[in-house]
Amino acid sequence: MDLFPHIPIITAMKISAFGEKFTAKSGILELMDDLGKAVAGDEKVCMLGGGNPAQIDEVQEVWRKRLFALLGDGSLEKALVSYDTPQGRHSFLEAVSGLLKENFGWDIGPANIAITNGSQPAFFILFNLFAGMNAEGVKKKILFPLCPEYIGYADQGVEEDIFTTCPASIEEIDEFTFKYHVDFSKLELSDDIGAVCVSRPTNPTGNVISDDEVKQLSELAESADVPLIIDNAYGAPFPRIIFEDVNPFWNKNTILSMSLSKIGLPSVRTGIIVANPEVIEAVSSCNAIINLANVNIGQVLTESMFRSSEILEISRDKVMPFYRNKSIQAQEWIRKYMPPQVDYRVHKSEGAIFLWIWFKNLSITSRELYERLKKRKVIIVPGEYFFFGLEKDWEHSRQCIRLNYSQDEASVEEGIRLIAEEAAKAVNS
Ligand SMILES: Cc1ncc(COP(=O)(O)O)c(C=O)c1O
Repeated sequence: MDLFPHIPIITAMKISAFGEKFTAKSGILELMDDLGKAVAGDEKVCMLGGGNPAQIDEVQEVWRKRLFALLGDGSLEKALVSYDTPQGRHSFLEAVSGLLKENFGWDIGPANIAITNGSQPAFFILFNLFAGMNAEGVKKKILFPLCPEYIGYADQGVEEDIFTTCPASIEEIDEFTFKYHVDFSKLELSDDIGAVCVSRPTNPTGNVISDDEVKQLSELAESADVPLIIDNAYGAPFPRIIFEDVNPFWNKNTILSMSLSKIGLPSVRTGIIVANPEVIEAVSSCNAIINLANVNIGQVLTESMFRSSEILEISRDKVMPFYRNKSIQAQEWIRKYMPPQVDYRVHKSEGAIFLWIWFKNLSITSRELYERLKKRKVIIVPGEYFFFGLEKDWEHSRQCIRLNYSQDEASVEEGIRLIAEEAAKAVNS
């Protein structure tokens, strides 16, 4: 039956430059599609590819209790029936700023906080606020001082070519471990830089830039009169998936982005921006235009946990130890299964939910390794995608893979066993 007899079939939509850019088949879109298809069938797949956080029983129990309490006292219903302001829910802004001020002495109040629908759209707003053509006709860029960086930034510019990156320097710590560092000898904040951005911990590598590196970046940004954006999606004080002894950082020139996703609530879409009031007003204006208001379930669900500091305790006592143990276990499996002919290093696991393996002597690229692993029903993410914005070719960019170690033990162990098997077959002879 013809359901729409009067509607002509559209063969070629006439769309804007924005439309062209955002509907073009980006590498990451194709890859995500591919990942989705790979796990869609009935066959068991070792899914080490996505960015989903784990379901931690003790943490799930906390959300369940909170949901029942909110249903019982009517506050969930009350929240569902009204729009918040584009900046966020005032009581939540107060609770978040109160917690951060009390615990870290930051000079902030509710005017320093804005909520977004997850932190992903916060980056869309921030990148396009600070990069692209400005009123003086100067094209500004976002500088990522440590490449490889989070794949989710790569296609967020409304204008083309607004990102630039600085390849990390590599320290080979021992026969099993390596670590990236910001290469300050090559980092330059030229006049066309509109903001500096770094994820801490870094997705994909699990790197955590040190307090000293943050201080240096902050000073560089301040001297160039541009903001430093720190993506704290996995960082301290919540969800605190960080295994190093480092301190949260904020000052008036810093835009700190946080999220409720990795503590276990990715679907409530709650991003939290801490910045000076001027930036907060700008983000709120964009929010009003794009979203009208934010989803408020996450804010309602966790507000009392911010007031009581329970959010910090859960992060420290439940979330962080869970991931640290998982990471240690996955590294043990890598050591156990990887045969001696494979020359590899694992990035020092300092945080986040991924392990990043660098294969030094394979005859194939990480993209080809991904294809071979897919045939064995193991899904990882090839490293190529995380090296966007590079000016020169870097062989290293085709030698790494990312795996999510936080899923069920059997899948992670079997996945690692098969990765080792396929790597062994591909060793350069
Ligand atoms: C480094 C990093 N930043 C930001 C995000 C966006 O997360 P969300 O929009 O769920 O807050 C992610 C998601 O995986 C991430 O890994």
